[in-house]
Amino acid sequence: MRFPPSFIDEVKARLPVSEVVGRRVKLKRAGREFKGLSPFQQEKTPSFTVNDQKQFYHDFSTGKHGNIFDFVMETEGVSFPEAVERLAAMAGLPLPRNSREDEQREQRRKSLFEVMELAAKYFEQNLASRVGAQARGYLSDRAIVPSSIVEFRIGYATADRFALKEYLGSKGVPVADMIEAGLLIAGDDIPVPYDRFRDRIMIPIHDQRGRLVGFGGRALRKDVQPKYLNSPETPIFHKGSVVFNFHRARQPAHEANSVVAVEGYMDAIAVYQAGIKAVVATMGTAFTEEQIATLWRLSPEPVVCFDSDRAGVAAAYRSIDRILPLLRVGKTFRFVFMDEQKDPDDLIREKGVEAFRNVLSGSLPLWDVLWQRETDGQDVRTPDKQAALEQRLYALVRTIQDPAVNTAFFRTSRMQLANLFWQVNRGPSRNQKEAGSKFVRNELRIRGEDQRSGLQKVLLGMLVQYPELLEDKRDVVLRLQFPDAFDQFLSHLFQLLVTEAKLSVSVIWERLDHEFYETLQTVHGDAGAGKPRGHRLFERFPVLKNDPPSDFVSGCLDHFIRILLWHQLEEDIERARLDAGEGDETAVARLLNLVREGHAEQEAISAEGVALSEWAEDIIRVWAPKGGTMHLAA
Ligand code: UTP
Ligand code: MN
Repeated sequence: MRFPPSFIDEVKARLPVSEVVGRRVKLKRAGREFKGLSPFQQEKTPSFTVNDQKQFYHDFSTGKHGNIFDFVMETEGVSFPEAVERLAAMAGLPLPRNSREDEQREQRRKSLFEVMELAAKYFEQNLASRVGAQARGYLSDRAIVPSSIVEFRIGYATADRFALKEYLGSKGVPVADMIEAGLLIAGDDIPVPYDRFRDRIMIPIHDQRGRLVGFGGRALRKDVQPKYLNSPETPIFHKGSVVFNFHRARQPAHEANSVVAVEGYMDAIAVYQAGIKAVVATMGTAFTEEQIATLWRLSPEPVVCFDSDRAGVAAAYRSIDRILPLLRVGKTFRFVFMDEQKDPDDLIREKGVEAFRNVLSGSLPLWDVLWQRETDGQDVRTPDKQAALEQRLYALVRTIQDPAVNTAFFRTSRMQLANLFWQVNRGPSRNQKEAGSKFVRNELRIRGEDQRSGLQKVLLGMLVQYPELLEDKRDVVLRLQFPDAFDQFLSHLFQLLVTEAKLSVSVIWERLDHEFYETLQTVHGDAGAGKPRGHRLFERFPVLKNDPPSDFVSGCLDHFIRILLWHQLEEDIERARLDAGEGDETAVARLLNLVREGHAEQEAISAEGVALSEWAEDIIRVWAPKGGTMHLAA
């Protein structure tokens, strides 16, 4: 029903907020306002305020805020029209009359509710009488206790084709109404309408206000299809918006501030009967928007149970897409996957309710399930696969309409992506803190020390051996970070470049300050004891003994520089990762970029290494080494 704004205002005017709230919360006057303990969460000092002039309440502990209608919806879990009806009654205001058409439709619906009530009574009587013996046996085999049968108003429809029809007829219900209520099978090709439900356990389904709107009929035997026959869509039964057991779960859910959503009727009944009364069933269909909103009326974070088989996981995954756009601050879902192919009903029957509570305590936040869905079994070792995952995730997060939730999910996405990519990048070679270069592995003899410092020595040695590279590579070399001793050594080399007219290996050996002799010795090696000048370099990098062409030497130097820069990048990544872990938002974006760059570099290094290895093989084959080994013509 729609209410005119004037009526809403009238209700508000007649009922001070303090009066409505005062029924639930003990209020104390504080100046113009009232104060009390938050009805939304436990607290010791009052942070809940009511202002009658402004016609609203505000709860500082939860940030909840609203008028009398909001308050009733929040605390009693009812819809807006229901809140209006309750408050209008409290204010002593008659509900406004609607148009004749509305009136008639309302009347019609009313009579359908009555028809459903009559049918339910009839089914209940059947179950209790002789015709219901087998059905009673079935229920008792399923461990549904008599008090549950009464509370859920479970009944039995006999196998007879006209039993219900005749019964309702005897109560003066027109056949047209029985058809409209979905109780009979009728149609142009069916001359005599007959009972829809035959030889089935009848489970009444109620709307949110507790009015009987439909039935789920369970076959007694395995070979009967379908297992459950449900009421069709009728003016009062809308499958997409119904949540089974809502009206019974409402109060318990508000008290517990939580609700469990299971799949089946029998699951809901079993869970309820086991003492977890805040339970509803989604009736085996995919979540609709309406059902999501309905579940949130019961709890800010409903826990939904799914089977752990493929179908169950698929259903959970599908529901996420439905939920994402609707997420709001403080409104989300948790997921639980039942194991061993047992639904909650089976589990409770076999292992007791504690086993089910245990399963519930392992519920996963929506984000975790979403992350699992997007990353499980995904190969994200290459930058393009990483980019694809990133885009997919961002596209999903973009569907979240609430700006605050949207931002939070983006941050989490970036963070986890960065972590994932970082881990992936640390492949086996990463663990040894090495770039994956085949060339370095095959051609350099630096295995006794870590790759980075070995490469630094080779690089400095090469700059001594080929001083012309000093000038060519000056800019990149200056970007490299070295330990202090090497750093000073390098800057003196560059000084020589300026002061000496022509730089050569011997000039370096003669002119470089004595304090650098040791470094020079380490990276290059003095002549003596039958060893040539530069023997340390040649030992670390034997290909150089073959007097390779300068292009090759220059290419090798570039390669080493690249690897050393990559080591520096790794340090930056580690730093950004620490910053990101501390919640620095730009650090997360930076981290993801660095990780990506690192990965691209890793690939480039590996490709470059392959090319250089081939080149090195050619050199060894074609160029006669200095020692005068066999010269093989290509
Ligand atoms: P399930 O097939 O999981 O069955 O259907 P269940 O609830 O465990 O049923 P029992 O224990 O064998 O009695 C889950 C829900 O899907 C809907 C029903 O709401 C059911 O409770 N359903 C299932 C149907 O509507 N029709 C069907 O034929 C099957
Ligand atoms: Mn079951």
